[in-house]
Amino acid sequence: MVMSTMPQPWCHWAFLLFLVLLSSESNIPCRNGVEATQRVFLYPQSPKVSSIVSKRYRTAYHFQPLSNWINDPNGPMYYNGIYHQFYQYNPNGSIWGNIVWGHSVSTDLINWIRLEPAIERTTPSDINGCWTGSATILTGDQPVIIYTGADTEKRQVQNIVLPKNLSDPYLRQWKKLKNNPLIQPVGPGLNSGQFRDPTTGWIGPDGLWRIAVGAELNGYSAAILYKSKDFMKWTRVDHPLHSSNASTMWECPDFFAVLPGKNNGLDLSAAIPNGAKHVLKISLDYCDKYMIGVYDLKRDTFVPDTILDDRRLWSRIDYGNYYASKSFFDSKRGRRIIWGWTNETDSTSDDVAKGWAGIHAIPRTVWLDSDGKQLLQWPVEEVELLRTNAVSHQGIELKKGDLFEISGTDTLQADVEIDFELTAIDAADPFDPSWLLDTEKHCREADASVNGGLGPFGLVVLASDNMEEHTTVHLRVYKSEQKYMVLLCSDLRRSSLRPGLYTPAYGGFFEHDLDKEKKISLRTLIDRSAVESFGAGGRVCITGRVYPVALVDGGTHMYAFNNGSSTVKVSQLKAWSMRRAHVNVKMG
Ligand SMILES: *[C@@H]1O[C@H](CO)[C@@H](O)[C@H](O)[C@H]1NC(C)=O
Ligand SMILES: *[C@@H]1O[C@H](CO)[C@@H](O)[C@H](O)[C@H]1NC(C)=O
Ligand SMILES: *[C@@H]1O[C@H](CO)[C@@H](O)[C@H](O)[C@H]1NC(C)=O
Ligand SMILES: *[C@@H]1O[C@H](CO)[C@@H](O)[C@H](O)[C@H]1NC(C)=O
Ligand SMILES: *[C@@H]1O[C@H](CO)[C@@H](O)[C@H](O)[C@H]1NC(C)=O
Repeated sequence: MVMSTMPQPWCHWAFLLFLVLLSSESNIPCRNGVEATQRVFLYPQSPKVSSIVSKRYRTAYHFQPLSNWINDPNGPMYYNGIYHQFYQYNPNGSIWGNIVWGHSVSTDLINWIRLEPAIERTTPSDINGCWTGSATILTGDQPVIIYTGADTEKRQVQNIVLPKNLSDPYLRQWKKLKNNPLIQPVGPGLNSGQFRDPTTGWIGPDGLWRIAVGAELNGYSAAILYKSKDFMKWTRVDHPLHSSNASTMWECPDFFAVLPGKNNGLDLSAAIPNGAKHVLKISLDYCDKYMIGVYDLKRDTFVPDTILDDRRLWSRIDYGNYYASKSFFDSKRGRRIIWGWTNETDSTSDDVAKGWAGIHAIPRTVWLDSDGKQLLQWPVEEVELLRTNAVSHQGIELKKGDLFEISGTDTLQADVEIDFELTAIDAADPFDPSWLLDTEKHCREADASVNGGLGPFGLVVLASDNMEEHTTVHLRVYKSEQKYMVLLCSDLRRSSLRPGLYTPAYGGFFEHDLDKEKKISLRTLIDRSAVESFGAGGRVCITGRVYPVALVDGGTHMYAFNNGSSTVKVSQLKAWSMRRAHVNVKMG
């Protein structure tokens, strides 16, 4: 994604936001045709400004380049013992522009070595942009990247690059095919300016390769399907993999197979076992949504299990700040891993002052819940290698109004896991389905200070001495007809005393069989300006960015709390300090 006519990545810059509002035709703020490429160069490309924000907000173990802007993860893959991560990267500044494919390699997904950019704008088929794409490992162990270029006429086309030297363990250099572009935005219904972000390829039952490309098709959103014998010559299939009238464009489609209740991943090109389901992930409205369904091999289409016309009800990969995610099958450990981009929510001038902007969320293993209805995500276990200074508590009773300080770990870089045992699930308040339409509003209204039957309980993180600044991550349980609905909120509204920050209260609901478990877990990764939370084993994930003054001035505190009427028991609480990872600090 991310090119001249799509303003998502820079919508938050006030000066563009007003242009967006001027030209916006719908109530979805990122749908419009603002030509922004040139305007982003109004800002200095190599900021020399020093500022209080420069160091302490920088994350210690999330993926980011040494400096400058990043957005989408691109073409993640595991090849010959090495994990590759590519990314939309501005080598010249901390605002969007000059995008190249940054490239880093790792053996553990946590420590990264930066390499020279893999793809730059050099040919007629990508001279106006080399945007998001995916890697595929072809038969015979041949990696290939297919990516979107903006050509001389600013049409979006799909191009291929291959490694120059397969014996180079890092695959540092990539060569562009002479016959690029391999796919042009031609054919009925296509908008040549809304045609991008090809998926990883997969092989169908006829032995042919397939990819899907995000597009606007006749004014609605679609993942357009292409077929090829050799991955080089592509034919458009007469129907999309899937499409929807509920929006007008899908970015960054991602298509994969999952097995209910099993966290081993599947390679979409291998034989798919019986009982597997398929997932179509798409990016729109600043967030990543997904549908679960089946891949109908006869009709060669994805068929969602349920079709919801109102896209506010679509499930989300993350209910916070998370966009343009991409997954890959990790053949080393037999798992599927998903990565997403988390942008800054301070101001553009802060980003210029910091000299960097954008991180990638911690890579997560992704699989399907045994009920077949929802994805589960969990930080890759490698992140646990950074844990140190463990503290552990059992059997803490949290009565209404209790605040339990978690001390003994670094509160700026921490990993916290809590099991909340519910002693009185009957105390849950009734659920109102209309809340699902605007969970952020519900999290604002029913915030951490609003007493309920069962909840709110959870964590307070990055709190200043007097609590003037703090971020809450908390759960609430509601009773619906046959089931329990659990809400996870991450409320950033009091995360910082600094003005001009974007500080929403994020929230997501999930169904939970509490009669069986009577327990809800919460895990939160705190990394300075990033707070990434996983409710009930990863049924709901929320990532937020926060910039507390207390983080710069001195210490912060972390607490477990309960503000619900019924007592909850912390059957287990574990917390660790997290060491700094080596993220792109050394030249490869
Ligand atoms: C980035 O941050 C801004 C807040 O400044 C937010 O409004 C926007 O939706 C975010 N996400 C993306 C994908 O740009
Ligand atoms: C970065 O800036 C330098 C100096 O202005 C320029 O030569 C180079 O082409 C720029 N890089 C990109 C990727 O635009
Ligand atoms: C390919 O990479 C290998 C291993 O790094 C190196 O020894 C060899 O010289 C490279 N070949 C070329 C043509 O660059
Ligand atoms: C969109 O709606 C129109 C009118 O109801 C219908 O004809 C068309 O098939 C729909 N397209 C998709 C992609 O659902
Ligand atoms: C719990 O509720 C009390 C009273 O409403 C409030 O003062 C306090 O801030 C709440 N705790 C949290 C963590 O929000």
